[in-house]
Amino acid sequence: MRHESPKENEVWLRVAHPEDADAIARLVNQAFQVERFFIEGDRTNPGAVRELLGKGKFLVAEQAGALAGCVYLEPRGDRCYLGLLSVDPERQRSGLGRLLMGAAEEDCRAAGARGIDLQIVSLRAELPGYYRQLGYEIIGTAPFPEHAQPKQPCYFIKMSKELG
Ligand SMILES: CC(C)(COP(=O)(O)OP(=O)(O)OC[C@H]1O[C@@H](n2cnc3c(N)ncnc32)[C@H](O)[C@@H]1OP(=O)(O)O)[C@@H](O)C(=O)NCCC(=O)NCCS
Repeated sequence: MRHESPKENEVWLRVAHPEDADAIARLVNQAFQVERFFIEGDRTNPGAVRELLGKGKFLVAEQAGALAGCVYLEPRGDRCYLGLLSVDPERQRSGLGRLLMGAAEEDCRAAGARGIDLQIVSLRAELPGYYRQLGYEIIGTAPFPEHAQPKQPCYFIKMSKELG
């Protein structure tokens, strides 16, 4: 997969290798610092990323020789779970998230998935709108794990998109 951004800054999308685990963990932790207002600590670590690479895959976006974004995809039955969508904070709002979500959809459709499921934390007020504009709908809620000890009460909002 190869894509050109409108600014002629080349963006390369590829499937991550195990050697990318450290860089992916760094990127995810930087992007998810936005959640520090309700949860302490890093979102992930290289070991956890390697574990995910055993169950699913990460698509990564490279720009100017560095990881600029990633998204995790895991087959679950005839559907696909999508998580850890992350864009380098310095490169947000430039279309990388949309590009990764489009590539994720392409990948899931090619794998024969009927739809994509994801979940967001209720305290992230901007995210339902973000995913809605990409075609996702709210389908329900789920409890936030107590052991994660959030600083404020919260729950997961589950969103899905059917792939035609
Ligand atoms: C959420 C995230 C992946 C979006 O990536 P991004 O590259 O900044 O988003 P894009 O540039 O592709 O934005 C696509 C559209 O969403 C809009 N958008 C992006 N971030 C937004 C926000 N925080 N609030 C409202 N709209 C937003 C953009 O205006 C854009 O619309 P347009 O194409 O009509 O101009 C990125 O902000 C991020 O990494 N956040 C931290 C980690 C995170 O929250 N991940 C999701 C957890 S479920």
